[in-house]
Amino acid sequence: MNKEIVLQMKDICKSFPGVKALDGAALNAYKGRVMALMGENGAGKSTLMKIMTGIYSKDSGTVFYHGHEVTFKGTKDSQEAGIAIIHQELNLIQHMSITENIF
Ligand SMILES: Nc1ncnc2c1ncn2[C@@H]1O[C@H](COP(=O)(O)OP(=O)(O)O)[C@@H](O)[C@H]1O
Ligand SMILES: [Mg+2]
Repeated sequence: MNKEIVLQMKDICKSFPGVKALDGAALNAYKGRVMALMGENGAGKSTLMKIMTGIYSKDSGTVFYHGHEVTFKGTKDSQEAGIAIIHQELNLIQHMSITENIF
């Protein structure tokens, strides 16, 4: 079984005015494995994914990608490195099918 960590997020903190969205969050993504990040509404899943892909900047913490520390400046930056985000909302193109939207 492959245990190579491709992406690692450590001690991630992020606050918005009046709310600490992430307080020491951590995530390991392994090569060849599908992972589901699950949690109640407002748990901070989207915020963590947006930090992973450079949409939001973190207040503190570290992100390693293939063993190197990275700070993506935006989705273009993360996508060029090989990380794509497909948003659940707002960014769908209405006249395209689900498959077309994903691709
Ligand atoms: N852009 C933002 N401005 C202010 N508060 C935000 C923003 N994005 C998320 N939050 C807050 O951060 C917390 C985590 O939200 P979110 O990451 O969207 O959770 P999830 O995706 O797990 O439902 C919530 O309390 C939410 O209201
Ligand atoms: Mg969400």
